[in-house]
Amino acid sequence: IARPGAGLRLRGDAYLQQMLSPAQLDQYRRDGYLALPGFKTAAEVDAACRRAHELVAAFEPDARTSRFSTRDRSRLADAALLASAEAVQCFLEEEALDDAGRLCVPKAESVNKIGHALHELDPVFRAFSRGPALAALARELGLVQPQVWQSQLIFKQPRIGGEVGWHQDASFFVTTPHTVTTFWFALEDATLNNGCLWVKPGAQHDALREQYVCDHARGKLTMKPLDRTPWPERADSVPLPVVAGTLVVFGGLLPHCSEANRSGRSRLAYTL
Ligand code: FE2
Repeated sequence: IARPGAGLRLRGDAYLQQMLSPAQLDQYRRDGYLALPGFKTAAEVDAACRRAHELVAAFEPDARTSRFSTRDRSRLADAALLASAEAVQCFLEEEALDDAGRLCVPKAESVNKIGHALHELDPVFRAFSRGPALAALARELGLVQPQVWQSQLIFKQPRIGGEVGWHQDASFFVTTPHTVTTFWFALEDATLNNGCLWVKPGAQHDALREQYVCDHARGKLTMKPLDRTPWPERADSVPLPVVAGTLVVFGGLLPHCSEANRSGRSRLAYTL
């Protein structure tokens, strides 16, 4: 894959750079996703990891800190999650607190995710979330006017990294037509052991099964069923083990999930 600066052409005020081969574009259109190893350099990945760990070090968890779970969505109905839309907020792994609300793992291994405005508020992730390579890729994927609406660091901690069940990212960003596209950057190697992504190839045209609805007045967040298409079976899906620096890009309707991490290695990712 071309690096920023390679093969740049100037036309008007737009830098043009070819990111994808015709075969890669065909693959994206056919399967609904594409893995691009080496999209980020080792230095960019290192800077992002260092910053992620700085944010955790500065975080002061207490019994009121929200835990994050996709299994019991009623737990998400709290002010912290709503407020995090415009903040940089840590959420704990479900298993990071004991029954008395005390941290039962080292703080450095307690955070499930940080969201959801890193791309705007954090200088390191602001830079990571922009640039000619990303702009060129977005354009080649057919995004006419790309806009970054959300960012999160997903830690998938050793031993207690939570499972993320089957979902479609468009549930959280409903547009007409569906144009939501996810950019998922591996900041550490994602493997079968530490909870790599699983996707159902070719399912990027599935109906949207559910919609995340925010009732700001009542501070309630609910998942509204829209379509009864069953979630994929394991036999229909494929794992996406990738090395650090890889960008996995997929359409908002593509069903995907990841397993719990019971291994001794974290699986840090950053998503837009
Ligand atoms: Fe997702």
